This record gives sequence, C-alpha cells and structure tokens, in this order.
Amino acid sequence: MCGIVGYIGNKRAAPIILAGLKRLEYRGYDSAGVSTIDGGALTMAKKAGKVADLERATTVSKTEGTIGIGHTRWATHGVPNDVNAHPHADSSDNIVLVHNGIIENYVTIKKKLTAQGYAFKSDTDSEVLAVFIGMLYKTFGNFEQAVRTALCEVEGTFGIVVMCAEHPDMLIAARRGSPLILGVGNDEYVVASDAAAIVSHTRQVVYLHENEMAIVTRNGFTTKTILDIETDPVIEEISIELEQIEKGGFPHFMLKEIFEQPTTFHDGFRGRLLVDEGNVRLGGLSTVTDRLLNAKRIIITACGTSWHAALIGEYLLENMARIPVEVEYASEFRYRNPIIDSSDVVIAISQSGETADTLSAIRLAKANGATVIGMVNVVGSSIARETDAGVYLHAGPEIGVASTKAFTSQLCVLTQFSLYMARTRGMSAETGREIATALEAIPEMIERILAKSDEVKEIARQYADASNFLYLGRGYNFPVALEGALKLKEISYIHAEGYPAAEMKHGPIALINENMPVVFIAPKDEIYEKVVSNIEEVRARQGKVIAIASESDDFIDTVANHVIKIPDTLPMLIPILASIPLQLLAYHIAVFRDCNVDMPRNLAKSVTVE
Ligand code: G6P
Repeated sequence: MCGIVGYIGNKRAAPIILAGLKRLEYRGYDSAGVSTIDGGALTMAKKAGKVADLERATTVSKTEGTIGIGHTRWATHGVPNDVNAHPHADSSDNIVLVHNGIIENYVTIKKKLTAQGYAFKSDTDSEVLAVFIGMLYKTFGNFEQAVRTALCEVEGTFGIVVMCAEHPDMLIAARRGSPLILGVGNDEYVVASDAAAIVSHTRQVVYLHENEMAIVTRNGFTTKTILDIETDPVIEEISIELEQIEKGGFPHFMLKEIFEQPTTFHDGFRGRLLVDEGNVRLGGLSTVTDRLLNAKRIIITACGTSWHAALIGEYLLENMARIPVEVEYASEFRYRNPIIDSSDVVIAISQSGETADTLSAIRLAKANGATVIGMVNVVGSSIARETDAGVYLHAGPEIGVASTKAFTSQLCVLTQFSLYMARTRGMSAETGREIATALEAIPEMIERILAKSDEVKEIARQYADASNFLYLGRGYNFPVALEGALKLKEISYIHAEGYPAAEMKHGPIALINENMPVVFIAPKDEIYEKVVSNIEEVRARQGKVIAIASESDDFIDTVANHVIKIPDTLPMLIPILASIPLQLLAYHIAVFRDCNVDMPRNLAKSVTVE
C-alpha cells in the first residue's frame, strides 16, 4: 500500500529518504512527503503527486537533519491532496509520523481529542494518531511511553515511524498488520515498509513482528512489544540485489518483468523438479508431509491475479491428484463463516505476502485447526511467516503493479505441488516423468513467445482505441481469460471481461458487434473444436477475433482475424504459455494509450488494508 522510510544516522536524511521513497513508489503514488529534525525543529515538505513532484515543488532535497521520515501514499482516508499527504504532525509540531494501515477507531479518538480542544488539519486517521501521541507526550513527558500507550488504544492496522522534535536522537517504529523492516547499518539505521528501500544501505535487517516496536538511536536499537515486554531481535540477511529492483534498460518494470519469465520460471523449479524420478522435492513442506497425505480437501485462498492462479491450481490438483479443491477470494472466505477443520489444508497464494485479506483468511484457517501453506514471493513477508509451511515462488522482486512474472511462478509452483500430491496419491512415475519433462521445457518456450513481442504490438496498435474487450477460454484456460482481462483493465483502463467460452451464449454474445475485439485462448486440446465453434459465432456477428493458438494448428488462421501461436505442450501447462502474449497485449495497448504502465491509477502493488 503506502511506502514508508525512516532514517537515523550521521548523513543527511532527506536525500536517503527521497531515494528510498522512489524505490517504494510502486506501493502507492498519490502523494509524498518528508520530515526531518533540524536544529531541534521539524521540517516538513509534502505534496500531492509523485515523489518527483515533491522534489520539484519544494526545497525538500536541500533539507538538513540527520534524522527523518518519509512516505508515499495510496489514499484510504481523505482525498490525495497536499494536506492529507504524510507525514502528519501533532498540533505543537513536536510529534510527527508516517503511517501505513487504517486506524479503525479514529473517529472515537478524534471526538475525544476535539472535546479537549485539539484541532485537525487533514481528514486522515493518521493525523489523529499523531495528535493522540502528542497529547499523551504532554501527559507523560516520555516519548516512548506516549507511543506505546497510543498504540495499545488504537484498533486497526499500522506500520508507523514516529519522531519527536524534543528527542532528535530517536526514531520509534512499530507495526501491526503492516510490514516494517529495520535495516541495521554502521551507526545508521533505515526503517522501511519494504526491503527495496534498504538494500542500497545494508543487507542486515530485522523484521518487526506484530505489535512490536523498535526504539532506534544513532548508537543502537532495542525492540519490545507495545505492552513494554522486551523482545529478542533476530538480524537476518536480505537476499535481493540492487539490479533486481532497477529497470535494466527496459522502458517499464512491467516489460522487464515479462521478459524475465524464462529465468524466473526456471528459478521456480530449480533444485525442486526431479525429472528422472517424475517427482518433486519441496523442502519447505517437509514438516507437514503427513498432514498433506491425510488431507481430505484443499482450500486455496488469494486475491487478484493470485486468485486466478489459484483457480488454475484447482484444475491442476483435481485433475492430477484427484483431491477435492475449493478456491476462495480471501475477502469472502474470512467473512462468510466457512466450515474448516483440522483435516483441511489451506493454501494462501500471494506475491507480496502482505495482502490484508489473505493474511486474515489464513489466521481464520489456523484458528480452526487447518494446516496452512503459503505460496509467496516476498521472503520473510507476513504470510510467509505465519503459515505452517510453504514454497517460495523465487520470482525476485516484482515492482510493476500489474503482476506478471509472479503469476507464472505461481503456476510453476502449483504444478509442482500438484505433481507431488499426485505422486503420493498413486500417479505413476512414468506419467510424473512426462509432466516433469514438459515443465522443464517451458522456459525455452516462453523465450520463443517473447520473441513475438513486435507481432503482438502490431495487433495492440490496431485495437488500442477499443472501449471493450472480451476474453474467452475453457477448462484450464478459463482462468487465463480472467487474468488476460484483468491485465488489460488494470493498465489500459479498457473495460474487459473474461468468461468461459461456452458461457458466451448466455449473455456476452449480446455485446458482440464489429467494435468488439474478442480474445480466444484456443489451444489444440480436447475441447478445441468447441472453442472454434465459439469463434465462428463471434465472426458471424462481425466481432474481431484474436486467437492464442497452438503452433501445430493450421486451421485457426482461416477463422480468426489475428493469430498468436504458442508452442505445443501438455494442456495443463498451456495457461503458463498463453498468459505471456496476453501480458504483452495488455502492455502494448497501455503504452499506445499513453497510460502509466507501472503505476496505474488507483491501484497499489500490495494491498495491506481490507
Ligand atoms: C493487488 C495487486 C495485484 C495482486 C493483488 C493480490 O490488487 O495490484 O497485482 O494480484 O493485489 O496481491 P498478492 O500480493 O497477495 O498476490
């Protein structure tokens, strides 16, 4: 959601914070702000828009002070204007904070503070927290105690970094439901919501736990719970490299990430896939092997693109391992009083590992005794840490807001998990070998599809002005249609719907005319003929057909307006290949429409609020 950076050390804080905020902008980009303590007084610069707008419009980059905090925002409370931008100070300009999350009882606290004569400049819940801490500081005269007391009173979620002008040698960071990482350097510390803002300073980090706070000075730090119980911080090493969070010559992160897929897909099975044995070794699941063997049912929960991967996972697991699977939007699952018990295995799929609804869903599943497994990309993220066991995606940092490489890595991991489950439930080694061999060939096939980027770009040019798109597929490829439509609407703002191809006749067919491009995922599989009939129904109504088809298919060129060929593989692996041209199509259309591909309006990469 929002990005947070705090710095305390011997260097000027503002340039370090601004550089960190730019790395975190993919998390939110409605407004940005920086505050430092200089000569015992707070400096403050904030602005609606991106970090570059803040730098252009203010003198922030010249700000002095070796302690500071900054924020890039994705608005929840209050419109994204200068006043609502973070940091927020209390009424005496003594306490200042940046906040990620939502203070749910802010109205009650605000009422009490207003009754005591406190006034507010913004519409945000975060300013209420700043004023509240300021009021408690006046009462106790102790900065740390004021922060702790306030955090025990607030309901909801927070990742905060707080400074006090009267304590220019201390930063306090705390979290509940919103990630915060403390980077430990040599006499300098960087606190951030994401490792991307820390990695250029230090690789030594402490992941703060739920309801934990860090009290950081220039000479060291301590951690404790908000109930004042000391904790033992564990310093870990982060593994991401600086190049991984830079564009590397590509015009956009999204395009870079699309082109990384041959490598990221390979990384997803490297050291795991045992081709000769027709099996898979998933070290992260070794502690739950028995529980997996005895599972009566698997529930997969996720949001957004990860939910589409989950749907494909359902087809994979049921087909290969013959185990019943249910797929749930995490936001629905957690509020519908689902029936879960200790014989269930719940899988949470998440790129960020921080999505609030998914996190709450796994907590509910755990509370009901289920075994909870994570399939997560971000190492050390909340979901990764709260699950009983897990399989990392190994896709590397994904910065583009529209998920691409994480999606194919999710399919890589889900295919291997299904193969592993199938082999424990009676699938022959020979069938296992056939699947493992086909999976191993996928990275080279992705390379071949990426080589067609210009071909896809030419199709994109012809349809960049369309107002609507329909995406149709069947079986394994119905979720691919959903994902193709989601990619397009996320970054080009064209309305797009995904449907099972055969359902077209029950509604969407009414929309088809000469202005409707329809994307068919139509590989040569057992329902190919049926999909071709659907294509003909669209053509009969003058719809324009873009078909994603098998290399071995010569017929489809006679019925579709445009054909993008993908290599032939097993039907269960087609979604991986078919999603690549759809990512490219959405990308090129968005670029033709001059859209900000990496930072689409209103979206955020990591949704840490409900
Ligand atoms: C946001 C992102 C999507 C992502 C979804 C779930 O909406 O913009 O790209 O698919 O959250 O995120 P997760 O990190 O849990 O996969």
